[in-house]
Amino acid sequence: MKKLGIIGCGAIGSVVAYAVDRGEVKAELAALYDIVVEKCLDLSNKLLASKPLVCKSLDCLLSAKPDLVVEAASQEAVREYVPGILEQGISVVVLSVGALLDRDLYDKLLGICRSKGSRIYIPTGAVAGIDAIKAASLSGVKRIVLTTRKSPKSISSESLRKLGFNEEIREPTVIYEGTAEEAVKALPFNINVAAALRIASRAPVVVRVIADPSVTRNVHEILVESEASNLRIVVENRPHPENPKTSYIAALSAVQLLKQILEPGINIGT
Ligand SMILES: NC(=O)c1ccc[n+]([C@@H]2O[C@H](COP(=O)([O-])OP(=O)(O)OC[C@H]3O[C@@H](n4cnc5c(N)ncnc54)[C@H](O)[C@@H]3O)[C@@H](O)[C@H]2O)c1
Repeated sequence: MKKLGIIGCGAIGSVVAYAVDRGEVKAELAALYDIVVEKCLDLSNKLLASKPLVCKSLDCLLSAKPDLVVEAASQEAVREYVPGILEQGISVVVLSVGALLDRDLYDKLLGICRSKGSRIYIPTGAVAGIDAIKAASLSGVKRIVLTTRKSPKSISSESLRKLGFNEEIREPTVIYEGTAEEAVKALPFNINVAAALRIASRAPVVVRVIADPSVTRNVHEILVESEASNLRIVVENRPHPENPKTSYIAALSAVQLLKQILEPGINIGT
C-alpha cells in the first residue's frame, strides 16, 4: 500500500486523514506534520486504525518515506517545503494553490518535476467547470471573470484590515477588485479558486470579492468567453464547520483526487 504524508492538520488535512483512516482512500497514513505540533497530536489521537509518525519537521515527515504528500497548510508551506519534497521524486497534492501564481516559484517547481519525474496535483472541486476551462484554454480564453460572494465571517479578519475594512461589514461590500495574482496576496486564505482558474485558463482573470453578511455559503460566479465555448458557472459552497474560510467541498475534492491517484480504475474528468 502507498504511504501518505500530510502537512497541515487543520480542516482539510483532518478530512483527508479521516478518509484514509476509515479506508475510503486506500493508503497508509505514514506521517503528519504541522507547525503547531498539538494539532498533529490531536488529530493522531482521534484516528482509529492509523498510527502515523507525528512530526515536528519536514525531515521527520520525509523519514517516513511517503510516496505522496498532501500540502494542506499555507502558501508559505508550499514555498518552504514543496521544492524539497519534489526533489526526492515524491509527488505533492497542493491545496494552497495561490502560491503557484508566483511565476518564479511555478517555474522552479515545474523544473524540479521535469528533472525528478515527480508531479504536483491540484484538487479543484471548490469550483465547477475546470475540466471545460482547461479544454477551452486550448482554443484561447478571451475573457474570464470571477465574482466571489462570502460572509464577512468567512474572510480572514487580518486580510480585511489590510484591505482597509476595520469596521464590521453590515451590507454587501466589494472588498477586492483586480487580478488573480494580487488577489492571492491580498486574500491568501480565501481565494484559491481564483488561482485555480488562472492556472486552468492560462488567461488573466478579473476577480471581484464581495463581503455579504446575508449569505451563508461561499458563492462563486464564473464567466468564461473562449473560441470553443462560453461558460456561466455558479457554485454555492457550504463553509467547512471547523474553518469557515474553507469550503467543505475543497476537502472532499482532495479526498476524491487521492482516490484517483492511488486506486486503479477509470478516471472521469480531465
Ligand atoms: N484549493 C482549494 O480549493 C482550497 C480551498 C480551501 C482552502 N485551501 C487552502 O488549503 C490550506 C489549508 O486549508 P485549511 O482550511 O485546512 O486551513 P486550516 O487553517 O484549518 O489548517 C491549516 C493547518 O496548517 C498548519 N500550517 C500553516 N502553515 C504551516 C507551515 N508553514 N508548516 C506546517 N504547518 C503549517 C496550521 O497550523 C494549521 O493547523 C490553506 O492554505 C487554504 O487557503 C485550498
